Amino acid sequence: MKKILILLILIGFGQTYSQVIYDNSINKVDVINSPDGSLKLEISVNNGEAFYSLYKNEKIIIKDSRLGIISDKFDLSKGFNVKNLSKDTYNETWTQVWGEQKNVTNNYNETVLDLSSDNTKFEMKIYFRLFDDGLGFRYNVYQGEKNIPFNIMDEITEFNFVEDSESWWIPAYAYRRYEFLYANTLISEIHRDKFSELVEHLHDPRIGPEAVQTPFTVQRKDGITIAIHEANLTNYSSMTLKADGTSYLECDLIPWSDGVKVRTSAPMFTPWRTIIVGDTPSDITMSTLTLNLNEPNRIDDTSWINPGKYIGVWWEMIGTNQSSWGSGPHHGATTEKVLDYIDFGSKYGFDGLLVEGWNTGWDENWCCTGEGENFDFFHPHPDFDDVKVAKYAKDKGIRIVGHHETGTQIDNYESQLDSAFAYCQEKGIRVVKTGYVNDGSQNIKRYDKEGNVHKEWHHGQYMVEHFRKVLETAAKYEVGIVVHEPIKDTGLRRTFPNMLSREGARGQEFNGFMPKDWNNKPNHTTILPFTRLISSPMDYTPGIFNLKEYRYNSPDDRTINESHHIPSTIAKELALYIVIYAPVQMAADLPEHYEGHPAFQFILDVPTDWDKTVTLNGEIGEYITVVRKDINSNDWYLGSITNQDSRNIDINLSFLDDGKSYRATIYKDPKGGGWESMPEKVDIIEKVLNKNDDYQIVLPPGGGHAIRFSPID
Ligand code: NOJ
Ligand code: CA
Repeated sequence: MKKILILLILIGFGQTYSQVIYDNSINKVDVINSPDGSLKLEISVNNGEAFYSLYKNEKIIIKDSRLGIISDKFDLSKGFNVKNLSKDTYNETWTQVWGEQKNVTNNYNETVLDLSSDNTKFEMKIYFRLFDDGLGFRYNVYQGEKNIPFNIMDEITEFNFVEDSESWWIPAYAYRRYEFLYANTLISEIHRDKFSELVEHLHDPRIGPEAVQTPFTVQRKDGITIAIHEANLTNYSSMTLKADGTSYLECDLIPWSDGVKVRTSAPMFTPWRTIIVGDTPSDITMSTLTLNLNEPNRIDDTSWINPGKYIGVWWEMIGTNQSSWGSGPHHGATTEKVLDYIDFGSKYGFDGLLVEGWNTGWDENWCCTGEGENFDFFHPHPDFDDVKVAKYAKDKGIRIVGHHETGTQIDNYESQLDSAFAYCQEKGIRVVKTGYVNDGSQNIKRYDKEGNVHKEWHHGQYMVEHFRKVLETAAKYEVGIVVHEPIKDTGLRRTFPNMLSREGARGQEFNGFMPKDWNNKPNHTTILPFTRLISSPMDYTPGIFNLKEYRYNSPDDRTINESHHIPSTIAKELALYIVIYAPVQMAADLPEHYEGHPAFQFILDVPTDWDKTVTLNGEIGEYITVVRKDINSNDWYLGSITNQDSRNIDINLSFLDDGKSYRATIYKDPKGGGWESMPEKVDIIEKVLNKNDDYQIVLPPGGGHAIRFSPID
């Protein structure tokens, strides 16, 4: 690489800035290293096309991957000339409103590649930021200062993996959004036929290309683990990764119903395309890159955004099958029932009580075709006295968690959005769970100005913008949201800390309503931390204690449906509160299954806001051990889980603080236990331990291990 002219090097405010102009006939335009030198990025322009390659520990992992955008007004994928290149370095620490860790270091080296093209007057800058935990890059398209509308027809971004490695993925363009178990195949084997063979038969219509959702995770033979995702998905459509039977993947944007990928205008920025890289799977679970690539918090007063735990009128519908959301003799959300739940929640110090089925609309044909119409978000069922409930809850120091199931009737919801969240504010509701059940492919109704209906994808720009509208409206009325059937998270919780949690994967509900052969397998929660959870907190809703013979045949037929058995143990359910992060965690089982149960104490103790988090060990789909330190005390917590295999895991306790002895309250599966035998038995023992001790975690098939470490004064 030949530098023609170094224009400027400035060092000021702890940052370095340099501007360099390069000879366009030369291929390699720039090479940058991450702050610790473990990652290296090469940027090149060859025959007018732009490429990047990424190295980890001097090994090339992604090579010669093309960059560019094609729209109806320009082709910014070829004919490139390098106009300029500027470099920067950045290092700051910022504090989260809540999270897995209090302080986050944002340290990267940046290169901005300024390109013009022989083909068009539109110009493009590509921003590359190289962190120790990965790479982020995004495009900026502009033509002077003018505001010029255009439609993106294709984003060329490639991710050419050098090795055809093992990967973990769920299909894009499938009917049930992100709610699938994961396939584990080579990258070159990604295909819906393979998914049908290994995981779940994907029925017709099979529209759209062969592609996977992100975060998409790969582990190389040398252990290096890579997750592709995106950060700050704003005014754009979701990126999926198109597969072609090799180890080369390409960005595939979910289209609008007319085939346009993104409706936008110059000047514009795309979301960041991210490649999170670690030496091990554990490393990528601790990445902060996605958050660092989002804008800082925009909510000045965050005093109303509180992490916490909630119970709910929920499992009795989705799990035990004794109640209904709709009206009738088995309606769950009656005033009387809700008052009982408030008493229970208040007795045990819960922050919230979710009430589903409180409003009208459930009696219509709302599920799961996208055709219901009538959900109402501020009129309660006749047998639910919202005024009485709000007052009782306030007196008892517990807040109702509101529920907005939309059935994906987006117009219906948006027309009520302000009133719905104003209602929440008036009733003291600080958190709302939203829902978007619709099990068809490309099946979300959008009405144009003439009233014509178009069917959109769940992950396209239309829905990305809808979800943002809801988030911002909720913030206006000081309400936090927990989204079910969401768009994937791309780190927005940094900018909008009222974006508390979301589902966006198969959660506990599948253990509720699905029989044995179809529920979540014991390995599912050992895959999530390395895939879906890379992006954000999850409302998995752990804490089921009645794991066998828990479900009735119907609300009318109170005989046990023998075909249901949740493949977990109580100790594993407890460990999930540590393994799966969420600022608001649910205790999902019925109050009567908790009352008097000694293991309930762990759910009462476990915090949801942390000072530090460390993943001690883990292999994707096998096991994981996570430790977290409480933000409000000196307590540490440990959660360890395994798949269907038993295993012993030796750890040392060096994460504990210096000079302290701890009383460790240990919740573990009994000898000979596991998800099939004795899932509902849990041993609770106490030990005194300190940071110099070694400790062995013994996990039976499908089991778990949870510990609270409290310093002994
Ligand atoms: C699906 C959600 O995941 C679940 O939690 C909720 O109870 C139902 N939809 C009804 O809204
Ligand atoms: Ca769901």
